[in-house]
Amino acid sequence: MPPFPISASGTQTDFRFRCIACGDLTDRASQDFRCARCGDLLEITCPHWSETRPNAEGLKSVWRGRRASNDAADLSGVWRFRELLPTLKADQPIITLREGNTPLYDLARCARITGVPRLFAKHQGTNPTGSFKDCGMTVATTFARSAGFRWVACASTGNTSASMAAYAARGGMRSLVLVPEGKISWSKLSQALDYGAVTCQLRTDFDGCLRLLQELVLRAPVYQLNSINPFRLEGQKTLALELLEQLDWQPPHHIIVPGGNLGNSSAIGKALREMRMLNLISRLPKLSVIQAEGANALVRTLREADGKRLVSVQPETRATAIRIGNPASWKKAVAVVEATGGTGEQVSEVEIAQAKAEIGEEGLGCEPASAVTLAGLKKLVKQNFVQPDETVVLVLTGNLLKDPDYTIEFHRGDLFPGAPAPTLDHLRRPPIVLEATLDAVIRTLEQAEKS
Ligand code: F0G
Repeated sequence: MPPFPISASGTQTDFRFRCIACGDLTDRASQDFRCARCGDLLEITCPHWSETRPNAEGLKSVWRGRRASNDAADLSGVWRFRELLPTLKADQPIITLREGNTPLYDLARCARITGVPRLFAKHQGTNPTGSFKDCGMTVATTFARSAGFRWVACASTGNTSASMAAYAARGGMRSLVLVPEGKISWSKLSQALDYGAVTCQLRTDFDGCLRLLQELVLRAPVYQLNSINPFRLEGQKTLALELLEQLDWQPPHHIIVPGGNLGNSSAIGKALREMRMLNLISRLPKLSVIQAEGANALVRTLREADGKRLVSVQPETRATAIRIGNPASWKKAVAVVEATGGTGEQVSEVEIAQAKAEIGEEGLGCEPASAVTLAGLKKLVKQNFVQPDETVVLVLTGNLLKDPDYTIEFHRGDLFPGAPAPTLDHLRRPPIVLEATLDAVIRTLEQAEKS
């Protein structure tokens, strides 16, 4: 019997845990959220859907109706879609910061650059802590608290820890953060500190932090909130539900996401398949996952092992959010890419920096990891995988303010020391130091007008 078992809440008609490899169904999960029979990852399933399939038009109308409500669950862009989430007990309070409700922007300039006129960005960086993690965290912390846990914990490249610390604080729980020393941005680290987490900077990389956490949760009564936790992925599904609602349920041809530990692509893919099963959409968009060349485990897994075994890498990229070499949810992500007809692609550090600056010029901005989506799209267009007349949605996962060091170094020309990247000069806007005179400012204005 594993310690601290976590049970599916109550009746048979709620939800169950299903192993993604052997299909074993169970009402209880151990603390590492792995199958007791074969050790693979668990996902959450609602078996009752096959018997009492919710009515698609009814669901759409209920979800739209909730946008006029001031109830806390309805104000959340996650719990508004609660029919497709694990069921809460009647009196179970939720932990919410009004996550979700993120905008879908058109990308006029990037559309011209890529030659894809119908190009959109779903900007998850407008979430309360600045990244897509909040959508999963509201669900996972709610279930953690109702299971009686006082402590929650995660390994992180920064965003998960910021989000977890905030939701734990809101829910009256303590949080423990394991991050790789020197490999996460100060912004993200400062969030965890301010939200009250016990923050450990470990002398290893993200994969080392995650390995240690997996052992810790089997020894101590802490609830792990990495994306191995299937409740997280249930919350992150709502990104896709909200996106489709914003597109009046007309599926785009392509959805493009960054890939790190591969929880988000798994969650979006799960949502797409559930939406198709419930007839909320008429066809599946292709879900493609983009990685940095230096952290390309999924791309290599697809290309070199036909998706059958994980090809781990020693990760290196300035997009620190996705600096991961041993992604936990690789099997889920492979299944999603294959089921939707998507693909995996990798992009260079220079391509990431250029794409990030181009998204900045849209007046939106994002963190480096999010910009791999635009860089990847350019490659997919060149390969004719994406056609110019298709609709494409890029998932921007984190806010521009998440990594200001990267942005400043880019504009100052310090991002690639010793390896100048002249093709990017037209995108650089270094700050200009001047005497405090009207003349100096006017001269600068005139020069800028000419350039
Ligand atoms: N984009 C950003 C901004 C992220 O923070 C992450 C992951 C990803 C993309 C990749 O998502 O792991 O679901 O494939 N950040 C994790 C963290 C690992 O700890 O904050 P994924």
